[in-house]
Amino acid sequence: MLPPSLALVAGTLSAATLTTARSLLHDGTQQVLGDSEVADFKCDLPPVLNPSKDGLPPSSDIFSGEEALKLQVKRHSTIVKIPSISYDDNGEPGEDPRWDVFYKLHDTLASLYPSVHSRMERVTVNTFGLVYTVKGSDTSLKPLLLAAHQDVVPVADASTWKYPPFSAHFDGRWLWGRGASDDKNSLTGLFSALESLLSNPEWIPKRTIILALGFDEECSGRRGAGEIGKYLEELYGAGSVALILDEGGMGLELLDNDTLYALPAVMEKGHIDIWLELHVNGGHSSIPFPHTGIGIMAEIVNQIESNPWAPKLIKGSPIYNHFVCQARYSPDAAPNITKLINKGNLEALAEELVTIDRATQYRIQTSQAVDYFIGGVKINAMPESITIGVNHRIAPQDSILAVKANILKQIKPIVKKFGLTVSAFKGEELNPEFAFDEDLGDGVAEPMYEVDYNGTLILSSSQATLVAPVSPTSGPVWDVFSGTIQHSFAFDGGRVVPVGELMTGNTDTRHYINLSPNIYRWTPVRQGGNANAHTVDERVDMYVHLEIASFYYDLIRNFDASDVAPKAGAISEEEL
Ligand SMILES: *[C@@H]1O[C@H](CO)[C@@H](O)[C@H](O)[C@H]1NC(C)=O
Ligand SMILES: *[C@@H]1O[C@H](CO)[C@@H](O)[C@H](O)[C@H]1NC(C)=O
Ligand SMILES: *[C@@H]1O[C@H](CO)[C@@H](O)[C@H](O)[C@H]1NC(C)=O
Ligand SMILES: [Zn+2]
Repeated sequence: MLPPSLALVAGTLSAATLTTARSLLHDGTQQVLGDSEVADFKCDLPPVLNPSKDGLPPSSDIFSGEEALKLQVKRHSTIVKIPSISYDDNGEPGEDPRWDVFYKLHDTLASLYPSVHSRMERVTVNTFGLVYTVKGSDTSLKPLLLAAHQDVVPVADASTWKYPPFSAHFDGRWLWGRGASDDKNSLTGLFSALESLLSNPEWIPKRTIILALGFDEECSGRRGAGEIGKYLEELYGAGSVALILDEGGMGLELLDNDTLYALPAVMEKGHIDIWLELHVNGGHSSIPFPHTGIGIMAEIVNQIESNPWAPKLIKGSPIYNHFVCQARYSPDAAPNITKLINKGNLEALAEELVTIDRATQYRIQTSQAVDYFIGGVKINAMPESITIGVNHRIAPQDSILAVKANILKQIKPIVKKFGLTVSAFKGEELNPEFAFDEDLGDGVAEPMYEVDYNGTLILSSSQATLVAPVSPTSGPVWDVFSGTIQHSFAFDGGRVVPVGELMTGNTDTRHYINLSPNIYRWTPVRQGGNANAHTVDERVDMYVHLEIASFYYDLIRNFDASDVAPKAGAISEEEL
């Protein structure tokens, strides 16, 4: 029998080879400019948008000061204490009792936020997905969709944490715990902003507001956001939402003390996991082949890692535009970048960027990481079955097809060397044309006696996700979003510059692509305001958390006061 850890891995594998969550409509080099975008982006800013005209108390009255801090600590710690973990190998809701902790989370939300619960309609989708809706009085406006996820990643070893991971310890500034940052920071912030507005009985929103909360974002979001996305599309139709705001992005980065960059992700890289499963003859280890199956696979791993993807900076892409803004407003922060932007030397700039850090490098380069290597059951038996899994995050210049073709190209010499039979991506969409046309019997040589590995290499893929479309960074919806950011984070003697960025990971919004072209993934966290998502000692600075709640409060108000994004056929007030 396999030891339990291996059995678990095997379970994960069979699930992973299932088909993809999203239908694959097209695949190829991404057009990175939004429809309304111009190639000669100058980083002019739309006007600052102050929501004060609605007569509501300013966010500073609600989300600053010691009383506000105390209230947010109470709300947030109550939520962080609930271990709403989603595991990769969880079964379906209603079947796997590990989901049941989410009932407790739901009850807790109801008791912490009574006005949200009395004034918003609450629907559960696939048992644990939550959709809250408050109908707007003006039905000609497309709704605003705010999103967060309820689940957190597991804790590997609680004893390594400074404070127990579900104790939600508050030290006067930091609130510690799994999920304190990812993503209950947003969850608490959104509920708190809505509670403030809805506890005022006179406040009746003009624009419908939807709160969508998935429960398995940390394992692809198929059951949560996947079902919520379908539910909302059925209810409202494709393209029916004014703006979607979810977690993600690169927060807020201060440069030279005078310019604060707000970096919402306006696109996500694509994704595909490639699995290679090798079956070879086994035998007694006292008379081994020159290479065991592990050795053969090790050569494949080495070959893949020796051939990384090329970086490319595309003019007009979000990351390029980010550096255009930086060169304009903070030219001295990184003089080399400023120089290359001004010269328009994109190739040299790409080379410069890949040396800065991994986070910068992989915003312009497809990543590949061999994350699974499973093989061997006995120390005196050559393994008969070995599997490796290679995770890819696809940059806009590349594609799912290109990733598959590259893997086939990389394994070719090893296939030839060991005379392997290959079965590549059988029954899958988006397959490259590729032939292993060499005379495969040749070149195996070395020992003079015959070695027959009798090897078969089976390739498959999972989790194929296209590079996300680019959300606009100009036009009326963006202007409200950017104008609100500039207002909420304004500071004396400084400037706030919102500019789109790219995300190397995925969020629940991959399931909401059809609902709106205006999808912004942005947890409005100041740099240094949270730490250690997905690892030990996750925490959030509660003063930074208060700013997040303030921003949500302002954003809802500004969207409510604005006539942007009318429904098709509706006449906006401006036109009347
Ligand atoms: C920013 O402010 C800090 C603290 O006041 C100061 O030490 C630093 O030199 C300033 N940096 C720049 C680039 O002005
Ligand atoms: C800037 O570029 C020059 C060469 O053009 C190089 O010597 C220097 O190390 C670079 N500086 C930084 C901070 O990357
Ligand atoms: C080769 O492997 C297949 C199973 O994959 C097995 O049926 C066959 O007997 C093997 N042939 C030799 C010559 O070992
Ligand atoms: Zn998250």
